[in-house]
Amino acid sequence: MKLKEALKIAQEKLKDAREANYLLSAFLRRDFSYLLAHPEEEFEGSPAELLRWIEMRSRGVPLAYLSHLKEFYGRQFYLDQRVLIPRPETEILIEEAISLGRELRGGTHGGEGLTFFDLGTGSGCIAVTLALEFEEAEVLASDISPDALEVARINARIHRVEDRISFFEGDLFSPLRKPVDAILANLPYVPEKWVKGKAELSFEPPSSLIGGESGAETVFRMLEGAPRWLKDPGFLLAEIGEGEEKLLEKAKEAFPDAQVSLIYDLQGLPRVLKIKK
Ligand SMILES: C[S@@+](CC[C@H](N)C(=O)[O-])C[C@H]1O[C@@H](n2cnc3c(N)ncnc32)[C@H](O)[C@@H]1O
Repeated sequence: MKLKEALKIAQEKLKDAREANYLLSAFLRRDFSYLLAHPEEEFEGSPAELLRWIEMRSRGVPLAYLSHLKEFYGRQFYLDQRVLIPRPETEILIEEAISLGRELRGGTHGGEGLTFFDLGTGSGCIAVTLALEFEEAEVLASDISPDALEVARINARIHRVEDRISFFEGDLFSPLRKPVDAILANLPYVPEKWVKGKAELSFEPPSSLIGGESGAETVFRMLEGAPRWLKDPGFLLAEIGEGEEKLLEKAKEAFPDAQVSLIYDLQGLPRVLKIKK
């Protein structure tokens, strides 16, 4: 079978040309432009496996769970259904963490002497990215899910930072033994009823999405516990969903002497709660 024939099969079965293009390039691990430029080249792969991908994709399984890959902040991460698929919005949190981390305590580029805490690490995309961006910093990462921690450890090994990240299992701050310079938290923040109605979210672990009935319960609990664990100077960045006003209020109550603000995404939605001591 030639590449153009494989593409035709995918397009016919998925009834969506764009999806078919994405699927075939992920399947062959080639840029789509390469597939377009080489239609006569032989399809190298198992046709049965391609049909399995197409069937799963047409049932709504996210492509990242089929390819086991997702790009985050310019790097490829291993993924499976034990963890949330990293979202582009989380790169806002990373960019801010890098900028604040470089300013902290007189500005050390490699993060010498700094400790970052990635709370709710999931695939480990935040912890691994920080370990790579701050080569001398200590990175702690925790999750309540032992399954997620296995995936995070795989990513630490792939990116060769397994010796620089300490992984812990536990609820919120319970694994910490000493305060840290920065807390990066992408905890679940979607309301329970909202997830139930969304077919596209049904493949991801509910515990990585649902933040209680209102969506904000876990982030609220995190804000209550955080003051004890954040050094001065230090910063906390938390990805958030709806209910930003109540979260701002809670953050100001928990950190009355800090600068508390929101960072917005390109659509103008509040995405990250920023607390700077
Ligand atoms: C939204 S996912 C974020 C995953 C990853 N950090 C990312 O940005 O793609 C939230 C993660 O928090 C974990 N989690 C949920 N409740 C938690 C809690 N109370 N304490 C620690 N981790 C929790 C979930 O298991 C899940 O892996």
